[in-house]
Order: sequence, then structure tokens, then C-alpha cells
Amino acid sequence: MKYGYGISLIVKIVTIVGARPQFIKCAPLSKELRKKHKEILVHTGQHYDYLMSKVFFEELEIPVPDYNLEVGSGSHAYQTGSILEATEDILLNERPDLVIVFGDTNSTIAGALAAAKLHIDVAHVEAGLRSFDRSMPEEVNRVLTDHISKLLFAPTELAVRNLRKEGIIHGVLRTGDVMVDSLTMARPVAKVKSHVLERMNLTRGGYLVLTVHRQANTDDLSKLSSIIRAVGRSGETIVFPVHPRTKKVLEASGLLSGLSDKVEMIEPLSYVDMVSLMSEASGIVTDSGGMQKEAFLLGVDCITIRDTTEWPETLVGGRNKLVGSDEGKILEAILARKKAKANRSHPFGKPGASKRIARILDEMM
Ligand code: UD1
Repeated sequence: MKYGYGISLIVKIVTIVGARPQFIKCAPLSKELRKKHKEILVHTGQHYDYLMSKVFFEELEIPVPDYNLEVGSGSHAYQTGSILEATEDILLNERPDLVIVFGDTNSTIAGALAAAKLHIDVAHVEAGLRSFDRSMPEEVNRVLTDHISKLLFAPTELAVRNLRKEGIIHGVLRTGDVMVDSLTMARPVAKVKSHVLERMNLTRGGYLVLTVHRQANTDDLSKLSSIIRAVGRSGETIVFPVHPRTKKVLEASGLLSGLSDKVEMIEPLSYVDMVSLMSEASGIVTDSGGMQKEAFLLGVDCITIRDTTEWPETLVGGRNKLVGSDEGKILEAILARKKAKANRSHPFGKPGASKRIARILDEMM
């Protein structure tokens, strides 16, 4: 790396993405990085369906990836191992100054590990998050990635503290959250371009949004059926964009036959449509990490169907409630929710995290 001398040089960066939330996070950062530096984009192919991948590149104007590893579905070891091996070849070929990874997926740890073993510096965007639940594959991925990263872009003060407790002090920079940038970019576009409410004949505030895709909920049929029963019993209109993992389980298990007719299952939505749908919902029921945060930022009540969260900041003030997969608790939380007031605190930082990260790279490298 080229430190110092007051002259900032062009940095060659390999950015690694592979799953839906990473496309959303990379969009604003990539725009900033490319103003000055050379970015090579690697898509691991962990998510590959049009509605899980390409639609985000088109809508968010993310550059076409320079490499697509097309790793596809498989076990954790298969996905992680395949990405690790293929990324090594790319890094040997490209010899970048820096590798950037996002979040907590198998693509994150595999990309970071390939770089670290070649002594290429790793920057982790969304460093320091902890759910303290090591049974989640994502928690394992984020802990390991943080420990092999040279630059740790932490979205919140709590993330900085989590890292400090694990002895990670050097290279930690609190930048705010790049998803605030993504949401800030998408909201005005959603207002003008999204017609999802009209298309689905929904009224503002007249429905809830449900998403379920965590392994712990989809791979345990008793949990999945409890979630499905709870939302059905609420009697509310539920819009349910279904993740492919969940769709497969629902179809194979016969749980679909028990679905209330007020639960409307739809294909996964594009980001702009999802932002529009969430903004006008009277509540969000989810096991997604990103959606808990988006609900908080949009001022919509969130009911999190997990026992832990890596975003405890969202729990402050009761706008997000952790209810696990217990049918009674989910139902109670749905019925008790109130439309939250717009949030005035900024635990995730004001917009501009992408600019701050780009500026740090300008100055440090
Ligand atoms: C992954 C991430 C998770 C992230 C989520 C966002 C890991 C361990 N988990 O979980 O952190 O929040 O993405 O969605 O990396 N599938 C398709 N089409 C696709 C993508 C997936 O059919 O385009 C199916 C696969 O066949 C597989 C299942 O969905 O059976 C799960 O995909 P996978 O990428 O392993 O994990 P996610 O649950 O999506």
C-alpha cells in the first residue's frame, strides 16, 4: 500500500459481492470509489436468479461485474470453498492494493480469506456487528472477516465497541452506514417510479410486509409454520415477497395449503419497489437484518422473528421487537403495534458513509 507523502494515488480495488444485500450496499460505494480509483467488481454468483441479482444491477446502475464466479447454490462449505478458490485466481491475476467485502455472507468470508492469505489488505464494510449467536452462519462469517481485515468500516459506535472487546483497535473507522446512502438514493426514486401499491391494489398503511429467509426459520418446519399461522391469525393483509429458499421449503412441506388468503405471496421485489412497499406499510415482520434497520429509518414498526439481532440499536424506543418464532408472541406484537414516529436519532450516521469511506481510502492509500 502507498501510504503518506501527501500525494494520493489511484488505488486498485477488487470489490466482492454475491448476495442481494451486498448489491444494495455496493451501489453507492462503487459510485464514489470510481470517481478516483480503479474498481474491479467480482460477483460470486451466490445469488443468481434475475430477481435476486440482475434486477439490482440494472435498477441501481451498478457496473457490470468484471468477473462472475457463478458459484450458485450448495452447502456452506461448497459455496465458501468454491468462492475462495476462484477468488484466489482473480487476485493473483489482478494484484489489487485492496479487497473490499460487505456484510456477513459466505461471499464475504471467502473473499476476505482469499485476500488475507495472499497478503492483500482487506476492508470490511459493516464491520463490528454482533448478534452473539454463533449458531447463525452470518455471525461466524462476520467475526472471522473482522479478524482478518486491515480496515474495518464500522457503521455505529456499538460496532466499534464490539470490535474493541475482541481486541481489534487498529484500522477501525466509524463511517456510518452505507445502507443509509442506499435508502437515501432509493426513496425519491421509489416515490416517482414504483407502482407496487397500485399494482397490488394496496392502500397506504393498510397492510404488513412479511419476509422470512434465515436458515433457522426456514429449515425448522415448526418455526416456519408457527410464523405462517401467526400472520394468518392476525387477520391483516400481509404482503409476502418470498425468498427462493423459503419458497422451496413452503412448496415441499405442504405448508402452502394452510396459508390464509389474506397473505399474498409474491416474487422477490426490486429494491425500489421494496422501499416503496416498506415505506407505506403499517408494520414489517421479518428475520432480515437490513430490513430491521430500514424499518427503523423509515419509522415503521418492525417485528423481528428472531431471538437475537446484530442491530440492537433498532430496539431502542420499542420500534423493533424481538419475538422469535413463537406464534402467540408474533400475533401479540402484530396486534399491539403502533405506527412509529419518524426517528430523530441517528445511530447509523447521516447519509455520506460511502463518501467517507472513499475519502479515507484517498487519504490512507
Ligand atoms: C444469504 C446470506 C445471508 C443474507 C441473504 C440475503 C449466507 C450464509 N447467507 O442467505 O446473510 O442475508 O443471503 O438474501 O451467505 N437461491 C435461489 N436463487 C438465488 C439465490 C438463492 O434459488 O438467486 C436458493 C438456493 O438454492 C439456496 C437458498 O436460496 O437453497 C439459499 O441461498 P444462499 O445464498 O445459500 O443463502 P441465503 O439464505 O440467500
